[in-house]
Order: sequence, then structure tokens, then C-alpha cells
Amino acid sequence: MNAEPGIPPLRRRIDEAGTATFTLDPEHLAANRISGFGQMSEQLYPFFMIRSALLAHVEASGHRVLAITSVEAGNGKTHVAANLAAVLSRVRPTVLVELDLRRPSLGARLGLTNDRPGIDDFLAGEAGWRDTAVEIDGFDLAIHRARRAQPRAEQLLASPRLGHALRHIAAEDETAICLIDTPPALIGDDLLHIARAVDGVLLVAQEGRSRKSGVLEVSNALGATPIVGSILNMALSAPARLGDYGYYRDATGEAG
Ligand SMILES: Nc1ncnc2c1ncn2[C@@H]1O[C@H](COP(=O)(O)OP(=O)(O)O)[C@@H](O)[C@H]1O
Ligand SMILES: [Mg+2]
Repeated sequence: MNAEPGIPPLRRRIDEAGTATFTLDPEHLAANRISGFGQMSEQLYPFFMIRSALLAHVEASGHRVLAITSVEAGNGKTHVAANLAAVLSRVRPTVLVELDLRRPSLGARLGLTNDRPGIDDFLAGEAGWRDTAVEIDGFDLAIHRARRAQPRAEQLLASPRLGHALRHIAAEDETAICLIDTPPALIGDDLLHIARAVDGVLLVAQEGRSRKSGVLEVSNALGATPIVGSILNMALSAPARLGDYGYYRDATGEAG
């Protein structure tokens, strides 16, 4: 309801079970280049290609809890995680978890309100798992975003509560897929705590920026956790290589 001109409508509601449902704002999404929730468009095509490859991998391997990482900050992890979760949630129950606890950005990117507990509160033992979920209206998508930046992220990520929560997602619905937005791979050992609790890792590389040596270093550091796919983001010239989930830069051609 919009009582007065200029006052935005209430976009969040909470049902009796305490689940928050949020209606995303298309203008906010467009300004943040999140096209995955929108109408079919050319911008969405690469994410459909990635979705197909990912679903084939899920069927073949049974891997359903996947972390999205990259060597450097700014390669597009959050961009890929949000858009891929959106297109996945059109065909499968999807859970998107934000574990870049030092620099959370998912809530702001999607325009979520910040008045509910976050996964950082859950990992600290100060909130229940369900309390941190935001269901997205019109999509089979639950988002657990971090509420505020956590300088001591490693203490939270080392908590056994993380593994419990991720196992719970997979066990509660055997068709659900969980994507996790993570910090850059080689900053401290945040990603290694996350890697222990996931089935595999998707690596986002940025053309002209991500170094081969960095990619090899990440692969070595991950040890037993497999890199199950790579995504070439913000490609400058090369044609999309679907086997690698490669895709072109958004139609705007801007990296933000
Ligand atoms: N393919 C893309 N097309 C357009 N903008 C992009 C693309 N990938 C990332 N961006 C923009 O680049 C910036 C950094 O991306 P982000 O997803 O925050 O990186 P990371 O999570 O790896 O730090 C953001 O402003 C994002 O909107
Ligand atoms: Mg990010």
C-alpha cells in the first residue's frame, strides 16, 4: 500500500511461521546489473547456458552445495552468484548463501532490507537458521545474506554451525541446489573453511585480470574439494566457451 506519493510500498512481509518474503525492485536490480529475475532477454542467455551446464553436473555428480569464488576481489563472484541463483530458482528450489563476511554486498545489490538477522548472526549462535532466510516473491529462492561486515570472519566460518546448516539445506529438500557467494580465494583461509562444507567450487575468472598462477594456487589450496566448473566473466574478445560456462560481458559492456 502506498499511502502517500513518494513513500515506497512495504516490500517485506512476514508470515505466521516467521518466514520473510521480499519483493525485489526491478529498477534497483537493473541499476545493479542483476538481470536473472527479469524477462527473457539477451542478457540472460549466458546464465541459461551456465544453468544447463550446472544442472548436468548436478545430475551426474550429486553435488548440490557449490561455492562460487575467484582469485581476486571484483572478478564478479556476487554478480554471478545472484544471477545464477535467480535463473536456477526458475526451475529448481535454490538457496543462496552469502559467506563473504568481511565485505558483504548481496543485500545491497539486491535491495534487501537490513532489519532481519543475517547468516553472520546465525554463525555467531545469535539467530536461528530460518530467521536469516528471505524468500523472494515469485521465485523458488531463499537468500541468507550477511547483515554486517565481520572483521573476524574466520571465527564465524570455522563454526560447526556452517556445516550443519549446509547439510540441512541438502537434506531438507533433495532437489534443492545451494549456491554460496564467497570471499576471494587467496585472502586468508576464509574460503578453506567454506570449502570443507561444500561439494565443489565454481571459479569465476576475469579476462585480462585473473592470473593462471592464481588459479593453480586456488586449485592446490582447495585440496580434496573439486573445482567443478569455471566461468569467464567480463570477457573482452573471446567467443563464449560453453564447456567452461564462458560468457560475454553484459550488453552494457561496462564492468561497474
Ligand atoms: N558480467 C558483468 N557485467 C557487468 N557488470 C559486472 C559483471 N560482473 C561483475 N560486474 C560488476 O563488477 C563489480 C564487481 O563485481 P562483484 O560481483 O561485486 O565482484 P566480487 O563479488 O568478485 O567482488 C560490480 O559492480 C558488478 O555489478
Ligand atoms: Mg562479492
